[in-house]
Amino acid sequence: MADRLEIVFAPLSAHWSAAAALLVAQGLGLAGSAKEANQRSGGAIERAAAAGDFTGKAKTTIELLAPPKLDCSRLILVGAGKPDELKDSDWINIGGQALVQLAGRKGEAASLVAEVAGVTGAKAAAEIAADLALGALLRSYRFRKYLTKQAANGDGEGAPSTLARLTIHCADPAAAESAFERRRALANGIFLARDLVNEPANVLGPVEFAERAAALSRAGLEVEVLDVDAMQALKMAALLGVGQGSVRPSRLVVMQWHGAKSKRARPLCFVGKGVVFDTGGISIKPAAGMEDMKGDMGGAACVTGLMLALAERKAPVHAVGLIGLVENMPSGNAQRPGDIVTSMSGQTIEVLNTDAEGRLVLADVLWYAQERFKPRFIVDLATLTGAIMVALGKEYAGLFSNDDKLAADLFEAGEATGEKVWRMPLAKAYDKLIDSKNADMKNIGGRFGGAITAAQFIQRFIRSTPWAHLDVAGVAMDSNRNDISQGWASGWGVRLLDRLVADKYERGEK
Ligand code: BES
Ligand code: MN
Ligand code: ZN
Repeated sequence: MADRLEIVFAPLSAHWSAAAALLVAQGLGLAGSAKEANQRSGGAIERAAAAGDFTGKAKTTIELLAPPKLDCSRLILVGAGKPDELKDSDWINIGGQALVQLAGRKGEAASLVAEVAGVTGAKAAAEIAADLALGALLRSYRFRKYLTKQAANGDGEGAPSTLARLTIHCADPAAAESAFERRRALANGIFLARDLVNEPANVLGPVEFAERAAALSRAGLEVEVLDVDAMQALKMAALLGVGQGSVRPSRLVVMQWHGAKSKRARPLCFVGKGVVFDTGGISIKPAAGMEDMKGDMGGAACVTGLMLALAERKAPVHAVGLIGLVENMPSGNAQRPGDIVTSMSGQTIEVLNTDAEGRLVLADVLWYAQERFKPRFIVDLATLTGAIMVALGKEYAGLFSNDDKLAADLFEAGEATGEKVWRMPLAKAYDKLIDSKNADMKNIGGRFGGAITAAQFIQRFIRSTPWAHLDVAGVAMDSNRNDISQGWASGWGVRLLDRLVADKYERGEK
């Protein structure tokens, strides 16, 4: 079984692999090559659709076994709904739905016929074929590294998939292939983010994470790794305090993509929380579910995946990704509740709860990012609070921002990609809740509005830079299964931020 599904593009024909999927638009019937196949099989496809009450409605499929006179042994009809109403993300989702059906049984090769009635224009057709391919590729991801027996993983419906190659049949394979190039880069970034989140913390400590980031120099990224001495010299006591209870030293990684024409272009900046494991520290977490805290570096994983995607598709921007990598452990050397640390900014923090550690890491990384890079904007991503899941569940990430334009752009990119964000408030009245009598601030607010007080804390380390904070606790880890992800590690945010960059910062638009 291949690790990665191989995607190839081929012309439209009725010669398909043993498993083949056809897209059917609602009320419009079969498209060209599907119509031919239907005729050759003596109308078997249309009879099966009628018998199964299949009309092409979105999110419906039926399967025909051994259809007469066709070279495939399984034919799957996938409902495409009303094609003229579909956006990119819908086509991506349909690709994922088709993949689930195609990979459902034994077989190494499958075909997906990217031809739909009611879609016109050669350019659009190539983009659609590429979106379908992306969705299928993303849905095929499995984390099987530690399965030494061929156990089922992921979809859990019987035997593991043996699918190794998917052929996308389309009108202009060359155009589809070139449309797919940037999507392949995106998929590589998303897979990297998923791999990092899935990897257990015994394997992926701060040092190992930094090594994986450093390896991205092969893709053209400039990568620097700051060790504990370097961070001490920068006076990053807030970040270092979180890591001091672990035997595994903290790291700060700076990844730069120099894709802008002008050498002096101010960078777009992305910052990620990278707590490789969050026990809570001395304010230790309950045992139940603590294993999920291997995913507390989901923000850092997204930033790393995004940087790879931008580099591989050679985005014409200067982008910087910074990730603060620490392990939050209790030990004889761990930070105590009541400790007061002086952050790189000079502001002092009373650490009342060692489990509110992500904001301490971000405080120093954000300060450093602004001091060094004077960025056009900063977006940070962090699996920061359980409270954001109480507020928004697992569908939307929480968005906090000091800049209406940046917030609106992120919202728009979220709607376009399906990685959705919902804006939450920032206000003086919330900010007051983190004042402390012993230091400039404390690291927890009261019982209420926990995601907001966390964001207010972070904002105290933002100067005048346009900034957005994404609380991704509900979406980056232990996330729901959907059409393009088998769940848990979603790689959430790579498509969102790639879209923000592509739509708003690559055409000279501000
Ligand atoms: N990493 C957690 C937040 C989290 C919880 C992410 C569940 C994903 C799933 C964070 O470090 C944390 O522990 N936050 C505390 C903050 C509290 C102590 C103020 C929380 O949300 O309970
Ligand atoms: Mn915590
Ligand atoms: Zn945490």
